[in-house]
Amino acid sequence: MSAGAILVTGGAGFIGANFVLAWIAAEGAPVVNLDKLTYAGNLDSLARLKGDTRHRFVKGDIGDRALVASLLREHKPRAIVHFAAESHVDRSIHGPADFVQTNVMGSFALLEETRAYWSQLPSAEQDRFRFLHVSTDEVYGSLGPRDPAFTEETPYAPNSPYSASKAASDHLVRSYHHTYGLPTVTTNCSNNYGPYQFPEKLIPLMILNALQRKPLPVYGDGRNVRDWLFVSDHCEAVRVALARGRPGETYNIGGNAEKTNIDVVRAVCAILDELRPDAAPHEKLISYVQDRPGHDRRYAIDAGKMRNELGWAPRERFDSGLRRTVEWYLDNMKWVDGVASGEYRNWIDLNYGKRA
Ligand code: NAD
Ligand code: TYD
Repeated sequence: MSAGAILVTGGAGFIGANFVLAWIAAEGAPVVNLDKLTYAGNLDSLARLKGDTRHRFVKGDIGDRALVASLLREHKPRAIVHFAAESHVDRSIHGPADFVQTNVMGSFALLEETRAYWSQLPSAEQDRFRFLHVSTDEVYGSLGPRDPAFTEETPYAPNSPYSASKAASDHLVRSYHHTYGLPTVTTNCSNNYGPYQFPEKLIPLMILNALQRKPLPVYGDGRNVRDWLFVSDHCEAVRVALARGRPGETYNIGGNAEKTNIDVVRAVCAILDELRPDAAPHEKLISYVQDRPGHDRRYAIDAGKMRNELGWAPRERFDSGLRRTVEWYLDNMKWVDGVASGEYRNWIDLNYGKRA
């Protein structure tokens, strides 16, 4: 692969695939995409890149150190953008082991091989190299209704096995900068939504259930608050942080769009009422179900550092982004059919069977 390649991990997942598509469109530079293709990874999301020599897909585990070492030797990437993770809180409650394995041990293996590769680069290339670690706002824990939003100085207080495993990886990344001088940048982002999101997450789950006239399962009282960011805004923020972020720093990324879950679900229903009036009102499908154990009440992001230091701000508003998302799912039912397979149905039975 030609010079200037980057290595992306988890580039067949929701955000990773959006990132790879946007990167090749905007930068025109080659990407080596290492992804294990778990249930959440899907090459259909990258179908647009079929035959494009700038995209090289490698099926494999970030924890496979021999594989990672050989990819680094062969492609000599100038940066690594690390998305690969187990990412769903509810799954981490049912089975935390995979989260520790990939998010902690896998990230550790990737860091170790990156350190070995980076330490033998000529010093000018060492200075230019970046390890960009993609993380979440969930590492900061839960806010009360009037608490100020999370800043980069907010102490870590992860509450789920998912957020604890991401926090552990953030700490490892931090230590590789402070101890070995590896030029790392960490981003902590709020909830993403948009095309290619696996329908276990709130917004696509509600769209698909509503289309099938199935109940819309809202956990607890539906008043938990998340900050929502359209996925292409997150991808742009990662590109900006990679280009201009200072080594050793962390950057919070958010959409400035705090919503209660019930308001999000009602907004999805209202859009579907317009687009599929025969089935209106979709709100009648809303069903309050047993809450998630340890459910964080509120997340909110102060993205002032991204704005002031790197000049990034989200472009998409929540209402227009949500409409684009609903329309994307309606227009891409083939993609949906591809992911809503046997494994997906097993998950729905496991997670929602006992909540009903
Ligand atoms: P996702 O679950 O959709 O995709 C994860 C991808 O990683 C999949 O393609 C999967 O096959 C791959 N993967 C998993 N284990 C692997 C392993 N051991 N080796 C190689 N590949 C592996 O996740 P996402 O929503 O796209 O999230 C991407 C990253 O962004 C994660 O690190 C997540 O913590 C972070 N993040 C997500 C959100 C969000 O709202 N989705 C918000 C903030 C941060
Ligand atoms: P989710 O998309 O799983 O993201 P996260 O837990 O990482 O924030 O959930 C977003 C919010 O929606 C969260 O407060 C849990 C809630 N939720 C439901 O009420 N019902 C559901 O079926 C799902 C999947 C989530």
